[in-house]
Amino acid sequence: MICPASALVERGEGVRFRVWLDGVERPAFVVRFDGHPRAYINACAHVAVELDWLEGAFFDSERQHLICATHGATYDPASGHCVVGPCRGARLTPLTVVERDGQIVLLEDEGRT
Ligand code: FES
Repeated sequence: MICPASALVERGEGVRFRVWLDGVERPAFVVRFDGHPRAYINACAHVAVELDWLEGAFFDSERQHLICATHGATYDPASGHCVVGPCRGARLTPLTVVERDGQIVLLEDEGRT
């Protein structure tokens, strides 16, 4: 389990967690957008820094896009594609999460040891 489903408010603060991917532990995050949990590796597609300077602050001020605090790349929360910024056309690495029995659960956890 990543967190209780109630911890994710529509277009509100995200929840950070860690995941094993290709044998490496990586930072990740999940937000709620259009009712669904959306999770990504917490690494900008421009430079692989974490998107949030303030922990959990992944949405822009309009709550329409995810935004990288470093250079302002903005991402479609549903697809992870960069729509504006230096990495336009690139994509955040998506993770498959579901809401089940009141919890947010990560389905893929490749390489966990
Ligand atoms: S590091 Fe994210 S926009 Fe440059």
